[in-house]
Amino acid sequence: MSKRLTPIDTEVVARRTHDLGLKDLGSASIREIKKIIDLIEADTGQKFIRMEMGVPGLPALQVGVAAQIQALKDGVAAIYPDIQGIPELKHEIARFVKLFLDVEVEAEHCIPTVGSMMGGMAAFMTVNRMWGDREGTLYLDPGFPVQKQQCKLLGHGYMSFDVYNYRGDKLGPKLESYLKTGKVSSILYCSPNNPSWICFTDAELRTIGELATRYNVIVVEDLAYFAMDFRHDYGKPGKPPYQPTVAKYTQNYILLISSSKAFSYAGERIGMMVLSDQVWNLQSPDLLRYYSSNQLGHALVFGAVYAISAGTSHSAQYALAAMLKAVNNGDIDFVAEVREYGEKAKVMKRLFVENGFKIVYDKDLEEPVADGFYFTFSYPGLSGGELLSELVHYGISAITLGITGSEHTEGLRACTSLTKREQFPMLEERLKRFRKDHPVA
Ligand SMILES: Cc1ncc(COP(=O)(O)O)c(C=O)c1O
Repeated sequence: MSKRLTPIDTEVVARRTHDLGLKDLGSASIREIKKIIDLIEADTGQKFIRMEMGVPGLPALQVGVAAQIQALKDGVAAIYPDIQGIPELKHEIARFVKLFLDVEVEAEHCIPTVGSMMGGMAAFMTVNRMWGDREGTLYLDPGFPVQKQQCKLLGHGYMSFDVYNYRGDKLGPKLESYLKTGKVSSILYCSPNNPSWICFTDAELRTIGELATRYNVIVVEDLAYFAMDFRHDYGKPGKPPYQPTVAKYTQNYILLISSSKAFSYAGERIGMMVLSDQVWNLQSPDLLRYYSSNQLGHALVFGAVYAISAGTSHSAQYALAAMLKAVNNGDIDFVAEVREYGEKAKVMKRLFVENGFKIVYDKDLEEPVADGFYFTFSYPGLSGGELLSELVHYGISAITLGITGSEHTEGLRACTSLTKREQFPMLEERLKRFRKDHPVA
């Protein structure tokens, strides 16, 4: 049988998939796909259009880099940071929350974490252990797969549903059907959403907040893509519009604010965790099963954060403090810095659609979904796994929506960040070739 001719050698793809012990690419995790594509690129010498991983494609905010270098020169590398974070950072986080969310919080209840990843872990480790008779987290999917992995490895239960079909007025009854079971300790979602890029409206956040209060459940709101719904300018300190948040509608909240995308600071693994005063002061005898204190804030800092990592990199805390200070003072418009992702998404989506692909999550309630860090797509007649396995032969990588808890198992998620504008002609050419080889009836 003659070998199928595709831009990327089929034998290399088959060998590398097999070497990594994977049956097919459909069920591979984000990091597994990254690894395979790295290997195929090295073997073939051909560059892919890399869309699998949500890595920032922009340089880190320089004010952070400069402050971090200075902190290292000043000797902080030798010194353990306080677990709860350095005072100047805590102060700037509380200011940021006030200026960009219009929410008042105590600086003491703002904790730096080793990325929002660790914030989520610490939240599950404490909140999900507050009530011995509950099971764990309700995820509003689609979502970031590793956050479920966190619950899994802690031995917590979880529930989830794809929120796309339950937007607006449908959200409340659906949410309540889970909360009524009495088994939910926490609700986790990300807005703007990874992977679908839908954004909850204030009305929906009110629904989530009011139900959380009624059922005494803690909302863990993941703001990994803070202010990146570019349809609105959420980037002016102290001025509306503000990034929508559940914190306006309930006191039962923990916010996870990542510096990875908003400030392009992913490499230093620093994020922020913000607890409402009410959540901080919650008490439960069931916490004593794991912690020396029955109070949530104390258990979180001196139990969870201490045991996981004994705090967050000292120099990175100075970096984040300096970035926040500049942003809070209005010296840097961090939203303008990342707007490029949305601009690129517009072009990339067009190239896909012109070549027979469909945008999977295309609506945000009545509006078209915003252009941002991610978009989702499918191709007629192929499942997500089949589409990914095929696209890899054309030098294009992404992840399947199946692994995100999405009901749309025919789709893939594309991240816009690493594709450079200079690569658009190559992307177009590869998509055209794909279409030619996969004619649609
Ligand atoms: C939804 C979501 N939450 C959290 C994270 C991780 O953030 P961090 O780098 O701050 O750990 C990501 C990163 O891609 C994400 O997409």
